[in-house]
Amino acid sequence: MSRGHVLVTGGAGFIGSHLVDRLLARGFRVTVLDCLLPLVHGDAEMDAEGWPVYLDRRARRIRGNILDDGVFEASLSGITHLAHLAASVGVGQSMTNIVDYTRNNTLAAAVILEVLSRGNHRVRRIAVASSMSIYGEGQYRQDGGGAVVAPPMRTRAQLEARDWELSLGGRRLEPVPTSEDKPLRPASIYAVNKRDHEEMFLSVGAALDIPTVALRLFNAYGSRQALSNPYTGVAAIFISRLLNDQPPLVFEDGEQKRDFVHVLDVADAFATVLDSDRPCFDAYNVGSGRSVTVNEIARLLARLLRKNIAPEILNRYRVGDIRHCFADITRLERDFGFRPSRDFETGMAELIDWVAKARKPVDRTAQSLAELRSGRLIV
Ligand SMILES: NC(=O)c1ccc[n+]([C@@H]2O[C@H](COP(=O)([O-])OP(=O)(O)OC[C@H]3O[C@@H](n4cnc5c(N)ncnc54)[C@H](O)[C@@H]3O)[C@@H](O)[C@H]2O)c1
Repeated sequence: MSRGHVLVTGGAGFIGSHLVDRLLARGFRVTVLDCLLPLVHGDAEMDAEGWPVYLDRRARRIRGNILDDGVFEASLSGITHLAHLAASVGVGQSMTNIVDYTRNNTLAAAVILEVLSRGNHRVRRIAVASSMSIYGEGQYRQDGGGAVVAPPMRTRAQLEARDWELSLGGRRLEPVPTSEDKPLRPASIYAVNKRDHEEMFLSVGAALDIPTVALRLFNAYGSRQALSNPYTGVAAIFISRLLNDQPPLVFEDGEQKRDFVHVLDVADAFATVLDSDRPCFDAYNVGSGRSVTVNEIARLLARLLRKNIAPEILNRYRVGDIRHCFADITRLERDFGFRPSRDFETGMAELIDWVAKARKPVDRTAQSLAELRSGRLIV
């Protein structure tokens, strides 16, 4: 017997398609609603009906845009659970395409919530994809074992002086895992959109008494990521550069710390919270709980691809970038018993295997850098 019927918006995308697999494996019925954005799917291999070949055919597929009149409402037929992942996802791109991003991320959330508020549906549980970007800078500790603090963004003057690390009151700060209680200080339009959309879902979910969980995803990596989209996924962008015999371009000095979480762990986290009966209206980090530097990733990928190409350190700063952020993942484990289980090096090796079988990606880094430069977003 089916455990319910999940509507996955953005279900043809990178994370959404893996979530579809996990939900089907758990015995859910699944419907995908996706408009197949050209930037994401333009270079991908499609089946005869125009859907990505990796998308499981057991899922019902609706090609449509949430923003178009009546599309979301029509997709709700028979749906008991909603996983909302559809979004425009490029942080840098959001700073030059502000109207499009706000429409596709924030207004689309409003469209969904207004339909749900009318009550003509059977949705009893919601999970939405939020993002670590809403934190802005991560959490830090004052040196010598001092207090945990949430520092403001680095100033332009500091960055122009190429002084990359954070300080407070003249003392250096040491990055520590970022917990959900850290104040939110989004530093890009994408991040502002994701914060607004998270808060909109949590507040309307509570008002309608539909348990709602926002998952704040850290940097997901794995198969099916759009390799030719220069705006998303540092691992995919670096692989695309290396396969084209170009060095990965690294902002600042490359010692920024990030948290890379395997896409199957992210999909499992979504499936776990959707498959639970826990009444819950809250946000949770989904990361690996481990930090790696951007330089480490560039070097690891070059080694796995057997390319003797060192990263090119730009010593430049991209407006809106934060220095360090990696996840404290204890809350999700405490409330849902979920811990990520995939090892970073094995996961990256699998990603390379997948890339080797996929089409050679087009390297569009130059185009995205030119856009950022013309918007004066690289210092
Ligand atoms: N990939 C990451 O590392 C990461 C990190 C943090 C948060 N997230 C969030 O996770 C979610 C999924 O990200 P992803 O990396 O799989 O992105 P993706 O671009 O691969 O997938 C998004 C999908 O949504 C579809 N879509 C976009 N707008 C739509 C609309 N208006 N109507 C219908 N479909 C639409 C796209 O065609 C695409 O298939 C997003 O909400 C993103 O903000 C991702």
